[in-house]
Amino acid sequence: MKQTILTGIRPTGKLHLGHYFGATRNWVSLQDDYHTFIEIADVQALTDNFHHPEKVRENVREITLDLLAAGIDPNKATIFIQSMIPEIAELTVFYSNLVTIARLHRNPTVKTEVKQKKELFGNQGESITYGFLGYPVSQAADITAFRGELIPVGEDQLPLIEQCREIVRKFNSIYGETLLEPEPLLSETARIKGLDGNEKMGKSLGNAIYLADSEEEVSKKVMAAVTDPNKIKKDDPANPEICMVYYYHNLVSKENLNTICEECKKGSRGCVACKKELIRNMMEFLKPIQEKRHYYEERPELVDKILKDGTEVARREARKTMETVREKMQIDYFKEK
Ligand code: TRP
Repeated sequence: MKQTILTGIRPTGKLHLGHYFGATRNWVSLQDDYHTFIEIADVQALTDNFHHPEKVRENVREITLDLLAAGIDPNKATIFIQSMIPEIAELTVFYSNLVTIARLHRNPTVKTEVKQKKELFGNQGESITYGFLGYPVSQAADITAFRGELIPVGEDQLPLIEQCREIVRKFNSIYGETLLEPEPLLSETARIKGLDGNEKMGKSLGNAIYLADSEEEVSKKVMAAVTDPNKIKKDDPANPEICMVYYYHNLVSKENLNTICEECKKGSRGCVACKKELIRNMMEFLKPIQEKRHYYEERPELVDKILKDGTEVARREARKTMETVREKMQIDYFKEK
């Protein structure tokens, strides 16, 4: 029996190389060996973007295109839309009795996000909504509805998995063994740095290369990348270890890496030429992904069908869980015994 993997992604923007190397690539290799569910977490995205429903809606499609382009195979993995599974919302309501508000405030991931919000919008403690504070509860419902056993996530999500495990244990101790306690599956690649040298690539940081970027967009970003600041002239020797162009060569073009490194150290490689080479290699790397994206872009009805079928499969699983939960919670009123 294959184990079940469940993971989720918020549809707030297109996928970039940070997502790809940090997560998506990993899901692609997992889909062969696991029963894989990939949730487009639109309900979770709405906790932050409830005033921009059009943005979330549009990105459900964009993210689906990106996932398919990156190699998620709808015959192997189930891609589905969170808001189309009402059982997740039901479970969230029941789980919310099992979590204190203090515990949610203590969740390190929530804490960081609250801090970021305050930095962005000023000290508007009042602006933290009930829905936002409670999203870890909803995420526990995401995971348990499908009896997810392994949850491939990055480091930043560990507190959310821990919170889910607590909810599961509490539920099971009150209502009897029902839910599965999930384990995180940390991806090998940590965070991908931005071309600007920032520790993280991110949409809000403005340093992201998207899977769907055109050559023009890639060129603009690569040409502005941070290199060794001590290299002033084209033939100055430099240190590739602190150069973001080298860092990206290492990600997308492993082949002549040694030559690049040696030439850079010797001073026989100018940054402009090196950047141009990276642009070519980056486009080469993105080519198969973009070709696949293009294939699906031209077939919107196929993409609709993938989402619809996936959501139906997911819903069947969630219904099974909900049935047991109702029984255990003694709220299965009209069921014949
Ligand atoms: N919180 C995750 C993120 O921001 C997305 C997510 C939603 C998720 N539901 C999930 C991840 C369930 C793992 C399991 O990246």
